[in-house]
Formats: sequence, C-alpha cells, structure tokens
Amino acid sequence: MTAPPLGLGLVGCGSFGAYVLDAVAGLPGLRIAAVADPDASRARPLGARHGATVCDGLGSLLATDGVDVVALATPPATHARMAIGALRAGKHVFCEKPLATTTEDAARVRDEVNRSPGTLAVDHVLRYNPLLRALQRLTAEGLLDPPRRFLFENDASDEDLGPGHWFWDPAHSGGIFIEHGVHFFDAARALLGSEPESVSATAVQRPGGPVDMVIADAVHPGGVLATHLHSFTHAHRCERQLMRLDHGFAESRITGWIPTYAAVIAWTDEEGAARWEEIPSRTAELLAVPGFRPHGGERVAVTVHRGAGGTRPARGRGVARSVPHRAEAVIDLGGEARKPHVYAESVRAAVADLLHCAADGSTPVAGAHAGLTAVAAAEAATRAAATGTGQSVSVPARAQPSS
Ligand SMILES: NC(=O)c1ccc[n+]([C@@H]2O[C@H](COP(=O)([O-])OP(=O)(O)OC[C@H]3O[C@@H](n4cnc5c(N)ncnc54)[C@H](O)[C@@H]3O)[C@@H](O)[C@H]2O)c1
Repeated sequence: MTAPPLGLGLVGCGSFGAYVLDAVAGLPGLRIAAVADPDASRARPLGARHGATVCDGLGSLLATDGVDVVALATPPATHARMAIGALRAGKHVFCEKPLATTTEDAARVRDEVNRSPGTLAVDHVLRYNPLLRALQRLTAEGLLDPPRRFLFENDASDEDLGPGHWFWDPAHSGGIFIEHGVHFFDAARALLGSEPESVSATAVQRPGGPVDMVIADAVHPGGVLATHLHSFTHAHRCERQLMRLDHGFAESRITGWIPTYAAVIAWTDEEGAARWEEIPSRTAELLAVPGFRPHGGERVAVTVHRGAGGTRPARGRGVARSVPHRAEAVIDLGGEARKPHVYAESVRAAVADLLHCAADGSTPVAGAHAGLTAVAAAEAATRAAATGTGQSVSVPARAQPSS
C-alpha cells in the first residue's frame, strides 16, 4: 500500500519561499498543506496559488492539521529556533541555508535531529546538482585524482539587495560567509572529501557601506587548499562565477553559481583514455540525481588527443606519471540558459531526498551534519576576517559528528 503524501507547511512567504513551493509542487509523496508569514500580503496570494491554509507564523502552522514537513524560508537568524521548534513538534524539516547563523546554534539543531524522530535536510542546492555529482563520480572512479586545490570566485549580483535588506545586517543574515558562503563550504567538503581544519580570511567594506566582498582560504587535511571569494557588487547581467578544481594531472573548470557547464582537461594513459572515451555513453548514469528531472538536452562529450604530451613521463609535486594523452571533456547541462531548470530541479531533488530519508530513516545528502560543518567553516572565516590580521582561525571541533 502506498503511504499517503506528507503535508508541507512553508514558513516565510518571501521570494525564495515562493520559489521552493513552485519547485516542489507535484512532487510525488508531497502535498502543499499550509503557508505562514506575519505579512499577510505575502502569505495570502501564495496560499491561494497552492490551495494551502494560510497562517501567521510557525506556531499556528504547527497547530494546523496535516502538516508533516515544515519548510523554513525565513531570514537566517530565525532558522535554528524554528527548526528546533518544528522537530520538537514531531515534524520533518526542510531548512533553507544556512542551518543557523552560529556554530553553537547549528550544533543545537543537529543534536535535536539526533534526538527526534524527524528528519532534516538543508537546502544546499549544490549537493543536488548533476554536474557536481558527475565530478564526484569521476573522482570516485579514479578518472580524476581527488582535488588538491579548490577555488570559487563569485562575482554575484547586489541588484536586488537594497541598502535596507536583511542580507547586509549580520544580526539577521550572519554575514556573507554564513548567508551565502555555506553553499560553497559545503560543496568543497563534498568535492574534497574532507572538512577544513583552519581558515584565514579578509572582508572588504564598500566605502561608506557594508562589507560586500569577502575571501577565505580554508586548509583541509593533507594540505588541500580551498579559496572562497564572494563579491556582491554586480548587476545581474554582469554576474559570473568560476569554480576551479586542481586535480594535479587534471583540471575542472565549472561555470555558474548554479553549475551548468564544466570543462575538464585530464592527462592520462592508454587505459584512462579508453575509459574517458566511454564516458559519453554513460551520460544518464553520471548525471543521475534522484528527484532531479533532466530536460533531455544534457550533453557529455569527450575528445582524446593521443600522444599530445609526448613519450616522456610528466612530473609534478614530486610525482612522475606516464600520461601521454590529453582527454578533454565537456559536461553541459545547457549553460546559463538552463540555470532556472537546474536550480528548481535541485531544490526539488533536495526535498525528494528529505522525503526518501523520512520514509526509511536514512540521512539526507545535505543533512544536519552538512549544515553544521558548513556553518562552522563560515563562522571561522567570519571570525578570521574580523581579526584584520590575516591570522588563521581553527574550525571548531564541535562540528565533528556527535556520538
Ligand atoms: N537555497 C538557495 O539557493 C537560496 C536562495 C535564496 C534565498 N535562500 C534563503 O531563503 C531564506 C529566505 O530568503 P528570501 O530571499 O526569500 O527572503 P525574503 O526577505 O524575501 O523573505 C523572508 C520572508 O520571511 C518572513 N518572515 C520573517 N520572519 C518571520 C517569522 N518569524 N515567521 C514567519 N515568517 C517570517 C518575512 O515576512 C518574509 O516574507 C534565507 O534563509 C535565504 O538565505 C536560499
């Protein structure tokens, strides 16, 4: 017998809350039950659009019949308190990033998840991105060495962020590393397979205005370095992002903050060349993310240039390898034109993961621990920047899994 669909109650009917509801409408196993916001001019039309009960806040939403999953899309400083309240009321929680604005609060949420029957997923959309999944799979299969360096440069838009927006106020947002940087601290953790040990950082203030540009260097175990730069200073049309993974004998360049295109260059031997040439025939399997519906135009293409490097072994960082062939791969989800599709489907896949885990008791890909470790790295970066000295700060040990 199929279980009845779980009822979703959204708290926070602003721009992203509305986006989440549109993304998950029609997801099997879910029905939109209620929406809540103290601003009725936001809650009423959204409730009407989805045929949902309209409430004025978390308390009345929790008291509404048929709410099994609470989605939180309120400003960041409210997340921890609301997530704990919803878990204590026996609900599952889909929490917008960041999980909390402090490591301490994120750890409290994680501990509540461990105690309660509910499941929690954080909307770290990059964890549900097919292109990053493909790179993780290629690394797990040994076609790419684990990255020894991660770089993310984010020329982001501030066009919709007026001077009074909560984004600029650390009391509400936690600051840029926490509000936005958590996506990439978490993505780096997934791609590098480790959590950072220490971080140094710089914050740059707009003349006469708020901090609008930050950079952090996080050191992961084994001397793997991850650089995170975020600059909220651009018009929408001038936004650009580059994620670069240095795999030593290979490099991946990924564009879009919602990744939609990657170019990979890998030096390889004959066996590797043959394996790279098979990759396009495995496109669907490489890009598969449960709950993410491909649009059908995704493309993985590989060209191998045999003998491009000559016959002598290549040497780097003291390692010599016989890698005469250059494989050039493109993983294309449709580029910027397909960003809206990829973004919405990543949110859908994150909620699908939550539903799946709620049913079988497993842990979502972006669960409470992922949320906590991202906040811990982001808070350490915020503190490091505040020293103003370039000194590095340890990422707190309490981010480690609790027993
Ligand atoms: N995952 C992503 O890619 C992504 C993208 C954008 C925003 N976000 C996150 O979504 C969240 C919301 O961002 P937004 O841009 O929609 O903000 P917003 O300001 O547009 O909307 C926030 C809404 O929350 C409501 N609200 C505030 N306090 C509340 C309370 N105590 N109870 C109920 N409602 C309350 C406000 O009235 C407002 O309608 C933030 O955490 C943000 O970081 C995530």
